Amino acid sequence: MPRVPTPSWRCLPALLLGSALLALPVAFARAPEAPAPVAGTSVHDAALGRPQGAAIASAHAEATAAGMAVLRAGGNAFDAAVAVSATLGLVEPESSGLGGGGFFLLRRASDGHTVFIDARERAPLAATRDMYLDPATGQPKPRATIDGALAAAIPGQPAALVHVAENFGRLPLRESLAPAIRLAERGWRFGEKNLAMLGWRKEALRADPGAAALFLVDGEAPRLGARMRNPDYAATLRLLAEYGHDGFYRGPMAQRLVDAVRAAGGIWTLDDLAQYRVVERRPLVFQHRGMSIVTAPPPSSGGIALAQTLQILDGYDWAAKNPTQRLHLRVEAMRRAYRDRAVYLGDPDFVTVPVERLVHPAYAAGLRAGIHLQRATPSDLLPGIAALPERPDTTHFSIVDAEGNLAAVTQTVNLPFGNAMVVPGTGFLLNNEMDDFSIKPGVPNAFGLVGKEANAIEPGKRPLSSMTPTLVIGPERVAVIGTPGGSRIISMVIQALLDFEAGADARAIVAAPRLHHQYLPDHILVEPGSLDPAIRAALEAKGHTVKEETRSWGNMQVVIWHRADGRTEAGADPRWEAVGKGATSEAGGIFR
Ligand code: GLY
Repeated sequence: MPRVPTPSWRCLPALLLGSALLALPVAFARAPEAPAPVAGTSVHDAALGRPQGAAIASAHAEATAAGMAVLRAGGNAFDAAVAVSATLGLVEPESSGLGGGGFFLLRRASDGHTVFIDARERAPLAATRDMYLDPATGQPKPRATIDGALAAAIPGQPAALVHVAENFGRLPLRESLAPAIRLAERGWRFGEKNLAMLGWRKEALRADPGAAALFLVDGEAPRLGARMRNPDYAATLRLLAEYGHDGFYRGPMAQRLVDAVRAAGGIWTLDDLAQYRVVERRPLVFQHRGMSIVTAPPPSSGGIALAQTLQILDGYDWAAKNPTQRLHLRVEAMRRAYRDRAVYLGDPDFVTVPVERLVHPAYAAGLRAGIHLQRATPSDLLPGIAALPERPDTTHFSIVDAEGNLAAVTQTVNLPFGNAMVVPGTGFLLNNEMDDFSIKPGVPNAFGLVGKEANAIEPGKRPLSSMTPTLVIGPERVAVIGTPGGSRIISMVIQALLDFEAGADARAIVAAPRLHHQYLPDHILVEPGSLDPAIRAALEAKGHTVKEETRSWGNMQVVIWHRADGRTEAGADPRWEAVGKGATSEAGGIFR
């Protein structure tokens, strides 16, 4: 199981800017207790104090409202996580859902127990290493990992909802699922993000009768603000509420899924579903400038890259560096961390991931020694290969409740609207998470993804992920951080952590202009207009190539708890909510 050490070190600060938010720092008034300091390297410290109220930040006001309703009904942060997760699967079907998977990173206030619930999808048992290669050419078959039944791995999301409710929640599952069930029956408003993402996947949705019936109107996108109902989704949640895990993974639902997937050319079996289990893993924990960082272990690549980057930067006198030098060093550190991601990381239940080495201070010191203070290192001088696509998919939410329980949850169906297939009668899309494997190790797949043996397809294996739900436990403040954004998730979380350390509030963290480098392609991506021209020129003088990237830069959701006075705050990324302002702000839960 987890080969995850808990090394200790320190590190550095960063930049930031203005912002906005969606979320509810709610006043369940309660006198805060005096906070205790975070002790040493341990996060297993039950006495962090208590917030004055709860806070939830999610990508959709209906989901935030569902979580808050469950808290008001006596649930804890973990019940609220079930409610938010199930609601996001309904109202943000392009990003996550019952046909997908995710990571639930939880910290229980009563005993400081932290756990990483790995609900990542698994390759079907009949999967083979070369299943997406054309036998004639040996090359990846176009779109085979993207659209349709063969692209779908075995979902983990339903198992996570049951597991979290049964092992960490306080309410019966049916109560935590009730808001999503009601909303599915009553209907929600089709928003601008739904519309934008649907535009991108309309052809694929049209090709599947189940998906077309659920998401299209006469083959076209619903109009903005249209009321969307999904009684099948409500019925599937009821199955879970009544029969738990088996309501999805055995019996009529399992049979229905397997029959439809196989009829459409897929390879799922009843065994695949019956064998699916979430895995409780030990989170990756490290110290950074007096803060405990609790983050995602493999099969996520995020926590290790986060630790490596900060570990490299820790060796510099950060306070003495100017903004150009800081960005240069951050890019050089990320370049090296992303290189290692491609070479070493995969499902730890199948391959030996050298976690201890990758996060060891001595290893970081070696990487640091190769960084030139004045010159960019061309990526092709570093051994290894990695080109990762950024994708506007996935969703994240962050919760702190009034007891101090924490939940950081990132969940996905991979590409927007997953594999664009809805098995009739189920109400949810299947994922295309098989595309997160290295389809042909060492060779780019149809979408440019390159990896190595560690992430090759094997039966029952979980594909490597970039999802990086993270908890930051500091002496004064606690933060719950995460975002969608494909390969950019990691650089966004690195930046958020540095901004948090520099004192930014939740709104500033989620709104900060973003910068990314992932080793290959060898350029720095920045949000348009966000980089000072003088700093850009200085970076270019060091040999960096800087490009502006107009595509979506994540949808970060952050909550912060101030330990001294118990105050909570929440920040929802203004990038998408700014787009969907009208539709979502009226639904409640957005404070700007
Ligand atoms: N499917 C996106 C990720 O797991 O990183």
